[in-house]
Amino acid sequence: MPSEVAPRVTLVAAYADNRVIGDGGSIPWHISEDFAHFKAVTIGGVLVMGRTTWDSIGRPLPGRTTIVLTRDTSWSADGALVAHSLEEALTLAGSLDGEIFVVGGAQVYLLALPLATHQVLTEVHLSPSGDALYPPFALDEWTATRRESRPDLGLDWVWWERSNEPQSVFGGSDRA
Ligand SMILES: NC(=O)c1ccc[n+]([C@@H]2O[C@H](COP(=O)([O-])OP(=O)(O)OC[C@H]3O[C@@H](n4cnc5c(N)ncnc54)[C@H](OP(=O)(O)O)[C@@H]3O)[C@@H](O)[C@H]2O)c1
Repeated sequence: MPSEVAPRVTLVAAYADNRVIGDGGSIPWHISEDFAHFKAVTIGGVLVMGRTTWDSIGRPLPGRTTIVLTRDTSWSADGALVAHSLEEALTLAGSLDGEIFVVGGAQVYLLALPLATHQVLTEVHLSPSGDALYPPFALDEWTATRRESRPDLGLDWVWWERSNEPQSVFGGSDRA
């Protein structure tokens, strides 16, 4: 039997020098060029996000399909598909057109990191206080394939590829 090829799953995040990604439900900086970068990276794709991140955005992002991860079986929102486990979210995402992007927040990045094959990360050169952090990842498991430094914006955009095998999407590891 041929071995299963891991689906391409890309985490997209902006994190500060102290790993902060959020504070009190929102992102503690506003860099419009980074929002444009996020849009350029994810347009046409399928976004998987946590219910808290959905609440912070408050609407579906145009030109993309959104799958919201929640444990609440009665949750629904206009413009969002819903999944109750990461496995369900990625199975649904894989049945749709478009590349799969996991777009936060902290809980969902942590859950999806072992399965991710790619990361597109913005290193924001600030150290704000915050209550949501980007998870650490092992540098010997990841290779930076491209770095675009923008000192004028106080950030670097970095494209990472996994250099070892990701965990299987169907390993059931997100069962609490
Ligand atoms: N800087 C960035 O790039 C970036 C990107 C995205 C978000 N953020 C920030 O990150 C923060 C939000 O992160 P967060 O960690 O608080 O929340 P989150 O990851 O967005 O969402 C957490 C929610 O996802 C659901 N969930 C988590 N694990 C699940 C599982 N195994 N199965 C089913 N559902 C599951 C639960 O929803 P229910 O409670 O409904 O069950 C949980 O409360 C905000 O401050 C946001 O602004 C930053």
